[in-house]
Amino acid sequence: MTTEELISAYRAAGQGQVFAFWDSLSPQARDQLAAEAAEVDLAEVERLNRTLVFKAGGGGVNLDGLAPAPYEPLPENGGNPAKWAEAKAAGEAALRAGRVAAFTVAGGQGTRLGYDGPKGTFPVTPLKKKTLFHVFAEKIRAAGLRYGRPLHWFIMTSHANHLQTETFFAQNHYFGLDKNRVHFFRQGRMPAVDFSGKILLETPGSLALSPDGHGGSLRALHRSGALDLMKAEGIDTISYFQVDNPIVRSIDPAFIGFHLLSRSEMSNKMVTKAYPEEKVGHFCVQNGKVIVVEYSDMPMEMQRETAPDGTLRYPAGSIAIHIIDREFARRLARGGEGVALPFHRADKKIPTIDGAGQPVKPEKANGVKFEMFVFDALPFANNSIVIETARADDFSPVKNAEGLDSPQTSRDDQMRQFARWLKAGGATVETDATGVPKQLMEISPLFGYDTDSFVERWHSLPIKPEIRDGLYLE
Ligand code: UTP
Repeated sequence: MTTEELISAYRAAGQGQVFAFWDSLSPQARDQLAAEAAEVDLAEVERLNRTLVFKAGGGGVNLDGLAPAPYEPLPENGGNPAKWAEAKAAGEAALRAGRVAAFTVAGGQGTRLGYDGPKGTFPVTPLKKKTLFHVFAEKIRAAGLRYGRPLHWFIMTSHANHLQTETFFAQNHYFGLDKNRVHFFRQGRMPAVDFSGKILLETPGSLALSPDGHGGSLRALHRSGALDLMKAEGIDTISYFQVDNPIVRSIDPAFIGFHLLSRSEMSNKMVTKAYPEEKVGHFCVQNGKVIVVEYSDMPMEMQRETAPDGTLRYPAGSIAIHIIDREFARRLARGGEGVALPFHRADKKIPTIDGAGQPVKPEKANGVKFEMFVFDALPFANNSIVIETARADDFSPVKNAEGLDSPQTSRDDQMRQFARWLKAGGATVETDATGVPKQLMEISPLFGYDTDSFVERWHSLPIKPEIRDGLYLE
């Protein structure tokens, strides 16, 4: 398409405002705007305007025939220990065979944290102030050492943070990982529109574009060639986690094993909701498929509903940890008849320009961003399963600058975990009433990354270190 044709197509679609400042732009700025404009699927924007922007309430969710999803409880909560042991063995075999890759989605904007830089470069550990990427790198390295097969790690970035992310890894020598096994690729982006469906400009020469959501990861895995690389390397199992959760078990053999033994195409971890109003998605079944119903889409009376034994009827909270089958990701990314992730509408404050081309920083939402969610892939997956995990051992995200899910809560959760591990190894650790040790300490995933691996290593030490302020085990 020539630039003239592109501009005509925008005018015909009622989006001619995108080129309002064209005549005043330098040749370079024109090239950039034209390239960005060419990236946008105008028919898709028109469809999203019709279905999401102009429609009050943005759609709503069908709750017909909804039931709580069954899940595999932890052995300590009544699950079958033999089944967990079998799953762990199956996962370990897959790791020894090199079938598993780690996959981190790190393309988000992290607006709530308000940190200037890719979120993965945010320091999170209590003592050494290691960054999120550093922590994951050590977990992935530890798993590679334990199973004798170094893992590949795929990291999805955004246009905004890609270069910074790559540079950060290079500067830190890939945290001891083989750089040929660390792969970065950008996710797609979507234009933002105002409430009348007009695509917004961020500057006279650029569109207001933003990442297409973590659901964009499936397309991006495909488009970037990551799935082909996995295939060539004999990897068929993708361990998916978010960049903001330092205590995630990045590589969890039991989870991998449950996924493989069930021939599941996409598997899920749940935690029991802490309280009925907790803002997490709910694992449910509908039409025989596991799905996630967001807290905002489930009526509060359903969220509060209890079973005859007094527990919540919908207890299973989603924590965005999945195992994804490689070819399932490809199938969804390719799309086709009825196979596509839906977009969701998010009303946001979107920096833009006024009619004179001057910057506007809105104080309230002035437009709509479109995002896909990875859990919307679930209804397309065969044999999807849900397993339980202990929140304290898998989920403590850094979302907000303060309060709930903040650097402070995550740091405390890491410290509590270190204290539990030390106690499991037989050490005496002084803690406060909530389990946070009185001494500042840190355990590297290279020393131990769960109770078993920690205790094994601890017992192998001929002389146990003193439990003191500044204790660091690696
Ligand atoms: P969040 O939903 O917490 O969004 O992302 P966010 O953009 O990081 O943060 P806020 O809402 O602006 O404060 C959950 C995970 O999904 C990734 C994030 O990087 C994080 O790991 N994500 C989110 C993407 O990779 N791409 C996206 O477009 C959105």
